[in-house]
Amino acid sequence: MKVLSVVGARPQFVKLAPIAKAMEKQGIEHIIVHTGQHYDPMLSDVFFRDLGIPAPDEHLGIGSGSHGEQTGRMLIAIEPVLQKCEPDWVLVYGDTNSTLAAAVAAVKLHLPLAHLEAGLRSFNRRMPEEHNRVLTDHAADLLLAPTAVAAKHLSNEGLAKRTVVVGDVMTDVVLQVKEQVKNKPSPIMEEFGFHEGAYRLATIHRPDNTDNKDRLEQILDSLAHLDLPTVILAHPRLVAKCKEHGIELGRGNLLAHRPLAYPELVASTLHSAGVITDSGGLQKEAFLLDTICTTVRPETEWVETVELGWNQLVEPGDALVKAAQRPQPKATNETPYGDGYAAIAVAQALQDWKN
Ligand code: UD1
Repeated sequence: MKVLSVVGARPQFVKLAPIAKAMEKQGIEHIIVHTGQHYDPMLSDVFFRDLGIPAPDEHLGIGSGSHGEQTGRMLIAIEPVLQKCEPDWVLVYGDTNSTLAAAVAAVKLHLPLAHLEAGLRSFNRRMPEEHNRVLTDHAADLLLAPTAVAAKHLSNEGLAKRTVVVGDVMTDVVLQVKEQVKNKPSPIMEEFGFHEGAYRLATIHRPDNTDNKDRLEQILDSLAHLDLPTVILAHPRLVAKCKEHGIELGRGNLLAHRPLAYPELVASTLHSAGVITDSGGLQKEAFLLDTICTTVRPETEWVETVELGWNQLVEPGDALVKAAQRPQPKATNETPYGDGYAAIAVAQALQDWKN
């Protein structure tokens, strides 16, 4: 069997890592196509290096652009690759523009399409990711859902027959990397001279939080007023938006830092007093590392993190400050994101599925 994975943005490389290993273990031929949506080395190359992912077989070099332009250029570039490779499955990941472009290219060529991380919903139609995931789910032949909640969303949309719950592949990676880094100080501790638990981490990159100058200022000011230093890992989009708005990122107790490589991120989260974010992945990584999370968004796809008490959704201002400084909740034995063997379940589902 031949599986062709299409990836392009940072969170997809993380999910690709356990999948590439599982494919090898199951003896499945695996072709990796990188759209080039993310191209900075810290958003792309370091993930391949640190997570032991084979170099992409094809790199499309698409780069940045408006949603239509970027997605359209990817669609044009992916089509001939699919025609040349004729895979048994096209596997797409998550909810980026790379996901949607590959999904459309595959179904137009009548190639079987599988969607990893299917069924997530924010029910917020302002988010580009929500368009991407809804459209991809409805196009796909096989929906690989990470959780029971995701499977329920798919069922509500009439997609139950195409759904298999496989667990969350990010759990596979986080648990493995945690074992490698747990007994040493995190790079953030070493760099700033912080003790264990004496700092927080933040990431903010979503258009709804960065495009409006006043909202972004409010978020940064809230972070600057926390009782511990907060290190903000600056995605290039955040840096670009600060420049555009003419505002400084670092201020008060808020310290600007480059994005981290994946093992650095896991270690720095594990040894922190908490994270403040609008990233989907980091909400879950924090949960899996027993670190409290404060999410600057009106809703989350990862509702289990909130229900189990480890994540709070807030608006910037007093609510953010109060939530970020709250104490840790009681530990939970619940494992809504699986046991760390999701990638093998994905490989199995691809082999077993009869279209
Ligand atoms: C994308 C995904 C988002 C995901 C995020 C993870 C979409 C619609 N969004 O958002 O779901 O959470 O990746 O990081 O697909 N840029 C660089 N260097 C790069 C990449 C981007 O400087 O390597 C800058 C460019 O100014 C670009 C901007 O960041 O215009 C946004 O990049 P883009 O890939 O369009 O979306 P992200 O915000 O990264």
